[in-house]
Amino acid sequence: MTQVIDRAAVVQTISHVNLHYPRPEDAEIAALLLEACGLVRTQEMELPTGGVFYRFTANVHAINQPDNIVYLSPLPPATAALMDAARDGLGLGTADEHPAVAAHRAAQARDPEHNFHVGFLLDSLDYLEERFEALKALAANDPRFSGRMKFLVNRALPGDAEIDARLDRSPVYAGVTRYTHGRFGVQAFCETDLVVDGPLGEACVIEFDYVFPGHDDEHIMAVSVATPR
Ligand SMILES: [Fe+2]
Repeated sequence: MTQVIDRAAVVQTISHVNLHYPRPEDAEIAALLLEACGLVRTQEMELPTGGVFYRFTANVHAINQPDNIVYLSPLPPATAALMDAARDGLGLGTADEHPAVAAHRAAQARDPEHNFHVGFLLDSLDYLEERFEALKALAANDPRFSGRMKFLVNRALPGDAEIDARLDRSPVYAGVTRYTHGRFGVQAFCETDLVVDGPLGEACVIEFDYVFPGHDDEHIMAVSVATPR
């Protein structure tokens, strides 16, 4: 007899994402960046092949729970070699660079969500703002992070007087005219080459999201809308 599982009785969540820093010597600075994003470091282990393996969690209330995990380790040599070969084949940085490279970079610059990226939902806009300002301060003041992060934010679509007023007072969103692909929420993006990903192995985008309460069926994480870029 075939057993039928009641799907509604099963909880399925994203257990983890697996991120890589480019070189073994980037280990600690990449880990510090994830901590600045609000993640909690729960394990670190020296690897015999060089570099450090880290486990982080986004859940400060249950740090050993088997979901909400971010693993961080050095880029595996075989992947690094493949990315190098791809970059060489495309003539990156040469006079013969394949035109798809510039087109891809332009698309990524227009929209940080263009490629694979990792998003974290926070239930405090104040905390999102604090973390984002902390990351910008690291980039501005700590030479280890200099030139290794880019920042961009999307403000909530206008039309709600209370939300609009809150964002006008925000250190992150005041004066911003880029808008989210949805309503009643905000996004903040940090692109960093301390985590390598994407088709050229150059960088990864870490996203922070906040949803204003009281809009259960209409907020940005519930319904996407087309926003011109
Ligand atoms: Fe996203």
